[in-house]
Amino acid sequence: MPEDFSRRKLIQQSAVAAATLLPSAAQNNRLRVGWIATGMRGSHVMNQMYLSSKDLVEVVHVCDTYKGNLAKGKDIVQTNGKNTPKTSVDYRDVINDPNVDVVFICSPEHLHYPMAMAALKAKKHIYLEKPIAHTIEEGAEIVSLAEKTGTVVQVGTQNRSNKLYIQAKKMVEDGYIGEVHYTRAFWYRNFDQTVDPAKGVPAAWRYIVPGDASAETADWKRFLEGAEHKNIPFSKGRYFQWRNYWDYSGGISTDLLVHQTDITNFVVGSLVQAELPLSCMASGGIYQWGAPDDREVPDTLSALYEYPNKFHLNYSCFFGNDQWGYGEEFMGKKGTIEVKDRQNLVFTPQPKFIRNIKPFSDKAPVVLNYLKDFNQPDSTADHVRNFLDAVLGKAKAIAPAKAGQVAAIPGHMATQSYRSKKPVFWDTRLNKLRIG
Ligand SMILES: NC(=O)c1ccc[n+]([C@@H]2O[C@H](COP(=O)([O-])OP(=O)(O)OC[C@H]3O[C@@H](n4cnc5c(N)ncnc54)[C@H](O)[C@@H]3O)[C@@H](O)[C@H]2O)c1
Repeated sequence: MPEDFSRRKLIQQSAVAAATLLPSAAQNNRLRVGWIATGMRGSHVMNQMYLSSKDLVEVVHVCDTYKGNLAKGKDIVQTNGKNTPKTSVDYRDVINDPNVDVVFICSPEHLHYPMAMAALKAKKHIYLEKPIAHTIEEGAEIVSLAEKTGTVVQVGTQNRSNKLYIQAKKMVEDGYIGEVHYTRAFWYRNFDQTVDPAKGVPAAWRYIVPGDASAETADWKRFLEGAEHKNIPFSKGRYFQWRNYWDYSGGISTDLLVHQTDITNFVVGSLVQAELPLSCMASGGIYQWGAPDDREVPDTLSALYEYPNKFHLNYSCFFGNDQWGYGEEFMGKKGTIEVKDRQNLVFTPQPKFIRNIKPFSDKAPVVLNYLKDFNQPDSTADHVRNFLDAVLGKAKAIAPAKAGQVAAIPGHMATQSYRSKKPVFWDTRLNKLRIG
């Protein structure tokens, strides 16, 4: 069957499936949105949604357990949507609201599972921030329920909607770099360690704690719902800087690395014919900020992955020097495609150091910029639009639950390898991780 026709058919099928789940009020191309969590990311995604998709949505219900962010979420809706949404502190009120067609979940990592499962059980379509879940098992349950209910799930790995990566994928498939066995991915950051913590971010993930933060303004019990340990007394640091603690986050592995395993799959996946790595060896440590900082997750991490079909992913992340920024280098026999800082794409034919030789690729060098060549300041706007279009039956979600899980599993593998100080393996027969 020609590719175009089968793709169109798939979109039509998912369109019918999605549309049959929509209440009639939503079928005139306007979706009623429920929003869970309007912290840093939630409020950003909401603003991007209004930029790209104002015509498609009405935010009718907003939920957050911190009063300041709930007020902020309500204000964004009033300013951009010109309506006043209902507000709640219990996410179940949003999910069970019969006026809500789709739910955005932008909560901390450990809450993705209970929130996503409740929404899917209520047959609501969800935009779910990455990583899909805090553990492999939770992610697998989300994928399976999403498939069973036929709901649209868009995981917040928005690089898939970034036109530079879409171009990189096309170039790889058009033979620019030839055979691929190796990709280098990295994320480097730095911090002003002298800044006043009330005014800036002096260390990775030590975000500003609001001045009014207390057990009265932030609902600690609700925050702890998805966490392993539920008897910890209220802690501002844990609530507002949750990425530093294993109970709520996998740190670098699931907060950052998953974007890059995801986009590696997206760009070279069809060529290397491998989705999940067979093994991972990770190492690193807390080198920048030890005591009195009580963080548990590393600030320095490298992870080496072996995929089937002779494909290797070399990942590194360090929070003490941002010289090399954020990037992936897809290194083929004929050339290299680099996507740097999600802003520039550079294709360079091979080789670089062998002199007086014809380039191995017949393609000319390419340099593209996200603003100049694509006029795309933030791919999140397009990612949200793609989700809404998928719910309305006009497109296929570009980051479905399965893709989110395939991206997250290598992240969990890195966490387990780092914590156990052993290599870990993915058992393809049992669909399970095995430690060394
Ligand atoms: N796709 C991306 O590029 C990207 C970027 C940043 C963050 N994220 C993801 O977005 C999510 C949120 O991250 P963030 O940086 O906004 O964190 P944050 O701490 O700024 O915001 C989390 C919000 O969730 C609220 N919350 C906590 N428990 C809740 C509960 N039980 N019910 C309702 N609300 C609750 C908090 O009050 C807070 O407002 C995470 O999953 C993170 O990985 C994705």
